[in-house]
Amino acid sequence: MEQVILNNGVIMPTLGIGTFLISPPDAFNGVKEALKMGYRHIDTANMYGNERAVGRAIKESGVPRNEIFLATKIWPTEYHNPNIVEETLERLGVDYVDLLYVHQPAGDWKACYKMIEKAYKEGKTKAIGISNMEGHWLDELYSFCEIKPQVIQVECHPYFPQEELVEQIKKDNIKIVSWFPLGHGDPTLLNQKVIGEIAKKHKVTNAQVLLRWQLDMGFTVIPGSKNVDHIKDNFDILKFKLDDEDMKKIATLNKNKKYNQQTPEKLEIYANRFPVYEKE
Ligand SMILES: NC(=O)c1ccc[n+]([C@@H]2O[C@H](COP(=O)([O-])OP(=O)(O)OC[C@H]3O[C@@H](n4cnc5c(N)ncnc54)[C@H](OP(=O)(O)O)[C@@H]3O)[C@@H](O)[C@H]2O)c1
Repeated sequence: MEQVILNNGVIMPTLGIGTFLISPPDAFNGVKEALKMGYRHIDTANMYGNERAVGRAIKESGVPRNEIFLATKIWPTEYHNPNIVEETLERLGVDYVDLLYVHQPAGDWKACYKMIEKAYKEGKTKAIGISNMEGHWLDELYSFCEIKPQVIQVECHPYFPQEELVEQIKKDNIKIVSWFPLGHGDPTLLNQKVIGEIAKKHKVTNAQVLLRWQLDMGFTVIPGSKNVDHIKDNFDILKFKLDDEDMKKIATLNKNKKYNQQTPEKLEIYANRFPVYEKE
């Protein structure tokens, strides 16, 4: 497994499995199979409504807890819930997570950050993460935080390679975890001519090129999938590397455009939309 050392010395595997919009039964099956294949980084969130399934998959995989990097995210409607960290650990069936994120800069996200700092000091999370907080949000965070984050999770793919953020976080050695690496399955991204040509050259799939690009950019990637064949293909990106010529060609796809533009209206919705948790 390829990995990075975070700015607090914690080791994070740079390939993981994502679980956004994956039902509890599919998350259980996918995560369990992924762990058996060798995946060691799992990404979930309060909002995904599958933390219990992920926790069960970890237990049933037989992989020791201390070999797994488990990340989850606190959702805005929970930012003032004093028990949310404990409740999250209980759902996951663990006594700590490896990475705990503020999911959105919505509502009282500063209170959430402080709560995660406290959880970090108490050993309930090994690292602190923020999500969707590039640019001015990060500057604002720096104005009050006691501990700088180790990780920032953001939308990132060849259409939007997060060039400004890469510069912004360099001095603090904060690592990027990319969401929507496959544009959430967008065929226009997956079928880009350049991507197809590079895939042919390395005898891999287009999706594998897009995911390998992430690792070769120095990012961590957590492709989402409920399909065991895809989960296996995605793991096999550890078997090849892109060269400078490939990277230059992929750089031409930069449109400086995200799929999900952040707006005050969206953040307002996030602040008021409650997660639907699984039944026991
Ligand atoms: N922090 C945030 O706000 C945020 C937002 C969005 C996502 N995330 C995290 O980032 C993860 C990744 O994002 P995402 O899952 O939304 O999008 P994604 O990884 O870009 O794409 C997922 C889609 O690609 C398909 N896929 C996966 N592997 C494939 C392969 N090898 N070949 C062809 N198709 C493939 C999946 O379908 P199949 O199921 O059929 O494989 C699924 O439809 C999420 O799961 C979540 O953990 C975080």
